Amino acid sequence: MHWIIRYGLGVVAFGLWVSVGMAAGDKALAEKTCTTCHNLKRVQAKFGQDRAAWEALVDRMLAKAGAPKLSGVERQAIIEWWAAQKP
Ligand code: HEC
Repeated sequence: MHWIIRYGLGVVAFGLWVSVGMAAGDKALAEKTCTTCHNLKRVQAKFGQDRAAWEALVDRMLAKAGAPKLSGVERQAIIEWWAAQKP
């Protein structure tokens, strides 16, 4: 009986962790990553563009030499954050 409860809670906790990780933008990580090479003004100039444009931009920046190596979840959290900013 106990294992069912433990397993069930584990699945719920994992589901929450995944959905939060996928959906929430990460301001601190976004600003830290995107000011490694230039200031935020460059990024702010793009506020209001659509998500596809952010994905392409973030991937282009992260492909540059010297860019921080991010996981898929971190990359997503940055895209979420910038895509949610209004000009
Ligand atoms: C490894 C260094 C580096 C990092 C990290 C970096 N950038 Fe850049 N960024 C550059 C350089 C160099 C340029 C100018 C050349 C160019 O446009 O590719 C630039 C230009 C830009 C521009 C103007 C170019 C355009 O298309 O209008 C924007 C916007 C921008 N970066 C956003 C970002 C964002 C958002 C991030 C975080 C995901 C980021 N950058 C991280 C190096 C970097």
